Amino acid sequence: MHPLARPRRNRATPAIRRLVRETRLSVDQLVYPLFLHADDTDTPIAALPGQTRWSLQGLLPRAQETADLGIPAVALFPKIDPKLKDPTGAESANPDGLIPQAVRLLKQHLPDLLVITDVALDPYNADGHDGIVNDQGLIENDPSVEALCKQALTHADAGADLVAPSDMMDGRVAAIRQTLDTNHHQNTAILSYTAKYASAFYGPFRDALDSAPPTQKPTDSIRGPAPPKPIPTNKSTYQMDPANRREAHREADLDAHEGADILMVKPALPYLDVLRDLRELTPLPLAAYHVSGEYAMLQHAAAANALDLRDATLESLTAIARAGADLIFTYSAPEAAQWLNP
Ligand code: PBG
Repeated sequence: MHPLARPRRNRATPAIRRLVRETRLSVDQLVYPLFLHADDTDTPIAALPGQTRWSLQGLLPRAQETADLGIPAVALFPKIDPKLKDPTGAESANPDGLIPQAVRLLKQHLPDLLVITDVALDPYNADGHDGIVNDQGLIENDPSVEALCKQALTHADAGADLVAPSDMMDGRVAAIRQTLDTNHHQNTAILSYTAKYASAFYGPFRDALDSAPPTQKPTDSIRGPAPPKPIPTNKSTYQMDPANRREAHREADLDAHEGADILMVKPALPYLDVLRDLRELTPLPLAAYHVSGEYAMLQHAAAANALDLRDATLESLTAIARAGADLIFTYSAPEAAQWLNP
């Protein structure tokens, strides 16, 4: 047997493997999502081992560590006091709300660390949805987009570098772009959650923020004397069907035309085909979100000694980059930064 081609020659030593490596994961690609609440204490999140709900005081040192590790950006997610939630998510446009306060604090002390804010109503909405639920139990697109524009403007006014609509309402990128531009925020970028799937992998995140839609049909629940409105128990009328691939191309075309600066696919590992498709379809930078359920699976498997956390995490992030992601939102960002630059 004399094979002419012996691919193993290019795998023979660490040095040759370094020379021929096709994907180089770098700390430059990482975005670290941080959870916030209005309490004075920093509270570990049971559903997300290793992650914390930060107080405003605790946020700053954590962000400083993130910046010191060379991570270019953080993404902020608020857990809102239930007393501040209503069916329109009005608190989302409060200029003195938790997120605007956090953005001002970060930009004042760490001006070079990019701050990305999530634009969606679910943390603020008593009904647990990213848009406004009307009396018939339908999520109303256009009034929701109006609320999202106000929220995005509030974040831009506070100094957010990028606003990231994660709601999947139609037309929101164009509407937010116009709102920002007419209010002197031409330099605030839009990172659009373009292909966001109705995924079971968001479970731990909704736990962390207490932002899940109701799990029971209203007919099963006791909600006081007035007949309750039928609140949908999932997000399938706005987030994408996990079975669909072509539809992501349509969303990407729309977001690109509406002025998005960066497109996102979410979750990441179960949707690498979509990521690869969009990589070939658009010249825009692509983000992927390695979401809470993907992170929790690795943490729990590692805790059970079923796999090595470092190797499995770096392999996951490398696969996401290989599929076409330029930037990766990951709860493992600080560990990954240390593993990449020991
Ligand atoms: C809400 C939002 C979600 C995530 C980011 N923004 C959850 C959802 O859509 O229900 C999920 C992130 C994660 O699971 O890590 N607009």
